Amino acid sequence: MDKTILPNTFQIKKRILTKNITPGKRFFDEPYVKEGDVEYLEINPGQSKLIAAMVKGCKQFGIHEDSKILYLGASHGYTPSHVSSMISSGWLFCVEFAPVVTRDLVFLCEERKNMIPILADANKPDEYKDRITEVDVVFQDIAQRNQVEIFLKNLQFLKKGGFGLLALKARSVDVVKNPKVIFKEVRKELEKHVTLVDYRELAPFQKDHAFFVVKN
Ligand SMILES: C[S@@+](CC[C@H](N)C(=O)[O-])C[C@H]1O[C@@H](n2cnc3c(N)ncnc32)[C@H](O)[C@@H]1O
Repeated sequence: MDKTILPNTFQIKKRILTKNITPGKRFFDEPYVKEGDVEYLEINPGQSKLIAAMVKGCKQFGIHEDSKILYLGASHGYTPSHVSSMISSGWLFCVEFAPVVTRDLVFLCEERKNMIPILADANKPDEYKDRITEVDVVFQDIAQRNQVEIFLKNLQFLKKGGFGLLALKARSVDVVKNPKVIFKEVRKELEKHVTLVDYRELAPFQKDHAFFVVKN
């Protein structure tokens, strides 16, 4: 098992696994590997843009074992649950605005003590600004037309030197425009505000998606 650049995350051939902080409890029925009492859960780059970016060669995420992370677009918690294993001594603020999926997320957060569910619209950070702290990383995976605007608004929570990670779905920004043109426009827009330190297109794992890493 080889280490990867993400904490508590390993690789066996093409399989990526995180060290489960709740051994014996697998919330998404993931394939797993056991070594004594330690359990590793497989995370699929086809379902996780963070892992797709890593497999595509992204060199920095700014995620450490004790990181505080604001995760926008947490959904049922698939990638967030693995991120919570990565940051076993950190905190993960999980923002999601769809009530039905947030119900699942709340059950997950009851088991994973470093995850905090927040039912709110990421487009309105004032709604949750009093419920979170300054963070080391802002991660966003939200398929909205104004994804970039939402991301930039939420960088207000990022500490100096922190990292912003944006998984961008081109088809949500504009359904007809060539995704590569959108990626270029987004790069330009981000560079007006922050320093772009890495960029990957996520195909074949995530069609028409790109991943941007910025530093504050
Ligand atoms: C692609 S899914 C996220 C998948 C998740 N990141 C993962 O890897 O397991 C996008 C989620 O963003 C949520 N979302 C979309 N717009 C949002 C907004 N403005 N505020 C909060 N959540 C939003 C959707 O309800 C959906 O659950």
